[in-house]
Amino acid sequence: MAENTRGSWGSKIGLILAMAGNAVGLGNFWRFPYQAASNGGGAFMLPYFAALIILGLPLMLSEWNLGRYGGKYGHGTLGPMVYLQAREGAKPKTALILGAIAGGLAFAVTLLVNSYYNHLIGWTLGFAVSSFTGAYMDQSQSTADFFVGYIQDPKMVFTFWIIALLGLSFAVMRGVEKGIEAWAKLMMPVLYVFGIVLAIRSLTIGSPVNPEWSSLKGLNFIWNPDFSTLTWRSALAAAGQIFFTLSIGMGIICNYASYLKPDDDVVVSSIATISLNEFAEIVLGGSIVIPIAYAFLGPDGIGAGVGLSFIALPNVFRTMAGGQFFGGLWFLLLFFAGFTSAIAMYNYLTALVEEDLGIPRKTAAWIIFVAYIIVGLPVGLEQIINKTADLAYFTEIDNWVGSYLLLVLGLIEIIVVAYL
Ligand code: PHE
Repeated sequence: MAENTRGSWGSKIGLILAMAGNAVGLGNFWRFPYQAASNGGGAFMLPYFAALIILGLPLMLSEWNLGRYGGKYGHGTLGPMVYLQAREGAKPKTALILGAIAGGLAFAVTLLVNSYYNHLIGWTLGFAVSSFTGAYMDQSQSTADFFVGYIQDPKMVFTFWIIALLGLSFAVMRGVEKGIEAWAKLMMPVLYVFGIVLAIRSLTIGSPVNPEWSSLKGLNFIWNPDFSTLTWRSALAAAGQIFFTLSIGMGIICNYASYLKPDDDVVVSSIATISLNEFAEIVLGGSIVIPIAYAFLGPDGIGAGVGLSFIALPNVFRTMAGGQFFGGLWFLLLFFAGFTSAIAMYNYLTALVEEDLGIPRKTAAWIIFVAYIIVGLPVGLEQIINKTADLAYFTEIDNWVGSYLLLVLGLIEIIVVAYL
């Protein structure tokens, strides 16, 4: 039977760390702070928690269930899973249509996410190196200029992007237990240790620049609920962030769950995944970026959007004691977070090619490598060719994915699982 030839998780702790690695990503440390900051801080957190309970929790459980069910039939991607599940309650033709829509959308959205997500991972690696070598410590150049110089320099952009992509493809080629699980067991504990060190550093930094600015005031900005600035846009952004950070709505969790054994538990494990993710997001992500940026740059400094992690924080690392080291930790943390999430998406697409087209895993992984290069080239070249730095195309894709596409796909999943 097909299920015997598919990989499976080696241990319970390995599974939980792999799932946490899947969910905990750049969404937690890069996307969450800038989404929260640009959507009113405390006003963002209200719909955020509502969406976590109403959408995040049930959908996470459904994806674990659906995935385990698909795995039983030898399938690890959303299209066949939705088809098989829908067949139990709907006409075969309806099931086929639902499966085709869900599978096609999941495929397209996953490719789209990776067109920019892998560039981010490359940047984090490049910036980790730049921290340890002290490249951005030179006060004569602003950190914004350094960042712009980086994203317009083909050598930097392409070197680290390709290194990241090669690392990912090798991890995926090694399979579920020896590749994915092994990396998660190494990277995730280190990530949490780095995160805790950085959060403590951030919250004990006091008011180094201006007595009015402290990291605790930055915390206050997120934790002071404020209904008056709540808008539909920020509510939608908050719901989208829940989908993004939990990796739900794309079938990526289903894929990891498809390597469960048929009688493995899903309830406790999916709650453990959510808890580990939310700890990383609101406790660690929330205590590092915004408070540290607030302490050094004041209330105006935290509205920096996409560049918050790459422009605002290097400013801080430049001036704080041990900044070169803490900066290195920060960008390595981002790299580990991004890498373990990107493995999940990479494995999803590889499984799709492997299972639905019958192509061996290694070849399938190389096909995805090439596909990633093709979709990622325009994102990387935008800044290099146009000599711009507004990341217009990049931000546009991130908005589309994070605020709309994941919500639509998630709703289709809910309908299938709940009604069929
Ligand atoms: N959850 C990941 C993050 O927070 C991103 C992701 C989204 C991964 C969807 C897989 C699927 O960065």
